[in-house]
Amino acid sequence: MKRKLVVGNWKMNGDLVRNQALLEQLVRHELAAVERAVCVPFPYLAQAQAALAGTPVALGAQNLCEFDDGAFTGEVSARMLREFGCRYVIVGHSERRSLFGEDDAMVARKTAKALAAGLIPIVCVGESLAEREAGQVEAVLQRQLDALRTELTPAALAELVIAYEPVWAIGTGRAASPEQVQAVLAFIRAWLGEHGGAVRILYGGSVKPDTARELFSLPDADGGLIGGASLVAGQFIEICEAGASASHSA
Ligand code: 13P
Repeated sequence: MKRKLVVGNWKMNGDLVRNQALLEQLVRHELAAVERAVCVPFPYLAQAQAALAGTPVALGAQNLCEFDDGAFTGEVSARMLREFGCRYVIVGHSERRSLFGEDDAMVARKTAKALAAGLIPIVCVGESLAEREAGQVEAVLQRQLDALRTELTPAALAELVIAYEPVWAIGTGRAASPEQVQAVLAFIRAWLGEHGGAVRILYGGSVKPDTARELFSLPDADGGLIGGASLVAGQFIEICEAGASASHSA
């Protein structure tokens, strides 16, 4: 059995009361056949660290600074994330790329910082709708992946988790079709085979309880990165269960 990885990305959502209820429901639900993690907003790291301590649900953050420390107002370093017990950090989410100006080179530098601090980066890649319609999916993915090689050795590349998140499928309720997803995951797998080795590859973009099982069972899918549905305990648990049953058949 190869255990799937299901990661919740809360984005900029939550409050102390709702978080506590959500975290308590997640940890009460035992699911050995799937690896689970939640990536919470920075101010809630301490709360989530306490709620998840001693449980199999891992903690992650959604971003980090490319520098170690110093005069970088408003930024959070990899070391700080480690201090709060983070195992994962999302790097280069499309919202960071499109809304906060993160380019491929910065994503690569942040990825290197995360690895150096002992975090597992979940590096997001994916094309926009315009790029897909222009037939540029592979070219975009190639560019995003190649940028990682400028900062990372092949051994470091092998430590990553890659999340394929087509921009047009994020938050739209319109997940990519299993055929579209598998084609891109296979492309990423081949690129990694050439340059780094085996890493886990996730799919993200409107994954819901009713689509999760099929998406997680694709030959090159190692799990999923879940946005909206990770905020609803029942939905996230169902998606994790889909991950567990896909693990059994992997
Ligand atoms: P949704 O699941 O809300 O589409 O978000 C996906 C995502 O961006 C996860 O990082």
